[in-house]
Amino acid sequence: MNILQINASARTQGSFSTRLANTLTERLRAAQPEAEVTLRDLGRTPHPALDEATLQALFTPADTRSPEQAARVAQDDVLIREVQAADVLVLGVPMYNFGVPAALKNWIDAIARAKVTFEYTDKGPIGLLKGKKVYVALTRGGLFRGTPADSQVPYLQAVLGFLGMTDVQFVYAEGLGMGAEAEQKGLAEAEQQIDEVLPT
Ligand SMILES: Cc1cc2nc3c(=O)[nH]c(=O)nc-3n(C[C@H](O)[C@H](O)[C@H](O)COP(=O)(O)O)c2cc1C
Repeated sequence: MNILQINASARTQGSFSTRLANTLTERLRAAQPEAEVTLRDLGRTPHPALDEATLQALFTPADTRSPEQAARVAQDDVLIREVQAADVLVLGVPMYNFGVPAALKNWIDAIARAKVTFEYTDKGPIGLLKGKKVYVALTRGGLFRGTPADSQVPYLQAVLGFLGMTDVQFVYAEGLGMGAEAEQKGLAEAEQQIDEVLPT
């Protein structure tokens, strides 16, 4: 089994989403000790944004790309290969300004590639990243679970589903910016959710 863990927090120290993602990965490894883990830390190693030069590189046929264009496409290829090889994905995702961190959006922009990770057919779009289980640890300063202001969950369900990853389990740690007591409660509730989805 291959596990791909994606850390999306900008924090390299003290990140709650990374801590919870680590716990999810440890639980998976405890159940399958032979599992291989690949870590993609988008805070420590940010992936470049989808700018005009990148679009030009992507839409230039491979055999006519400049060395710079080939190198830029190759950066995305690495992320695509990682997700293709994964049986299970574990995402640590803070809420930043009501959405997902830009670093995670850049990762999504890199892995969503027509005819590679999705394709359009006469019956509509088909996701090509099939058969994968996804766990997402969400961390928030406030309380947004189940409210219309929670744009993260519908967005991630839509885009991961579009790419074929329809089996997505969310774990929520909320209220982390509402004082020490609320922080402890939010983290304890997240640990409890992890116990439910991946019992020891
Ligand atoms: C730039 C920034 C924007 C944030 N925006 C929100 C927000 O819109 N809603 C919210 O509930 N918390 C927000 N927070 C709080 C974080 O979601 C919270 O601190 C979370 O624990 C961060 O994840 P991490 O611990 O993995 O770094 C924000 C934090 C930062 C640094």
